[in-house]
Amino acid sequence: MRASAEPVGVAVAGCGTISREYLRNLTSFPDLRVVFCADIDLERAKEQAARYGVPEAGTVAQALREPDVELVVNLTIPAAHAEVTSAALAASKSVWTEKPLALDTVTGQRLLDEADRAGLLLGCAPDTVLGAGLQTARRLIAGGAIGVPQTALTLMQNPGPERWHPDPEFLFQRGAGPLFDIGPYYLSWLATIFGAAGQVAAVGHRSRDTRVIAKGPRAGTEFRVEVPTHVSAIVEYRQGPVATLVLSFESPLPRHGFVEITGTEATLALPDPNRFDGEIRLRATGTDEWQVLPTSGATDGRGLGVLDMARALRGGGRPRASGELGLHVLETMEAIGRSVAERSFEPVRSAFSLPETLDPDWDPKARNLVNPAS
Ligand SMILES: NC(=O)c1ccc[n+]([C@@H]2O[C@H](COP(=O)([O-])OP(=O)(O)OC[C@H]3O[C@@H](n4cnc5c(N)ncnc54)[C@H](O)[C@@H]3O)[C@@H](O)[C@H]2O)c1
Repeated sequence: MRASAEPVGVAVAGCGTISREYLRNLTSFPDLRVVFCADIDLERAKEQAARYGVPEAGTVAQALREPDVELVVNLTIPAAHAEVTSAALAASKSVWTEKPLALDTVTGQRLLDEADRAGLLLGCAPDTVLGAGLQTARRLIAGGAIGVPQTALTLMQNPGPERWHPDPEFLFQRGAGPLFDIGPYYLSWLATIFGAAGQVAAVGHRSRDTRVIAKGPRAGTEFRVEVPTHVSAIVEYRQGPVATLVLSFESPLPRHGFVEITGTEATLALPDPNRFDGEIRLRATGTDEWQVLPTSGATDGRGLGVLDMARALRGGGRPRASGELGLHVLETMEAIGRSVAERSFEPVRSAFSLPETLDPDWDPKARNLVNPAS
């Protein structure tokens, strides 16, 4: 750990669609310095570096040789996550990875072990768990706003990301589909509220074996669908609460971010787990109106988890959006996938430490790293 006020040097690995939001935010946080853009497509890496004023661009291997890079932000496709994360850890870099942590739990656990052995940090998306929406909800629930939490109901449905993503094939392969691509948002929020899952059951459905890219230079290209595109799951949490989730790329009617947490006294309607902001509403038993509650916290967008991790790198501690939480969510999704295939109840065994809530005035734009000597 460099015990200094120096901003943490960051390399972004994978300069595709989501790198825009990351790079916009990461280059705006004073505690970070983005020094390298890497991609197997060198043109993409150079373009993003030029667009966001990042001094260097090249391959992942070149990024890993840069002494200024302390933290690698892995924004590659799910099938490449483990390989890139493992290479970065082997080069003594801490890693923030997009979800899922890996394609399977065994590989995810191996990555956590590699990070631990090397004394490095491993954080995992989604960092919407750090946004104003969930942070406010957690403070409300901890303060007794709904009584004792009992159940959750979540719904995410849309026609499928091939309608907007220019290269959507990976979203219909192992490691994605609505369960692995969108499930992490909902399951991370629920795990952060209820604690660890204990067992799951689910059914899945796939309406068609091929889809067609709708937008971008490859519009009209047909590709194969390899995973269920509609999943209906129930999750029983070890502390007692139960949740029902629908995750679907099969509905012409988009419905996003339906999350209701019900306790003994009231129901709390949360914002979209794929967002950092949004409205929180409370409906107490015996009332027939929703009450809109004020939210507080950061709404900057993707990259907050990288910043939280960078501050932990300098100041000690663990990232809140941790690899352990990412592994638990991965194991839960894998168990749901197995339940779909086997028509069985499946156990979930991994554990994680519940991340502490952030201060309501946690400020990503503040210069937070202080030189211990000053
Ligand atoms: N697109 C979104 O809205 C979105 C939102 C949140 C999270 N994510 C997650 O972010 C990740 C990337 O998604 P995306 O939509 O940006 O995908 P993308 O296909 O647009 O971009 C991925 C980039 O990674 C590069 N890449 C692939 N394998 C590589 C390797 N081994 N080494 C270096 N570079 C490699 C590709 O060349 C490409 O530029 C995924 O895990 C996805 O789940 C995407």
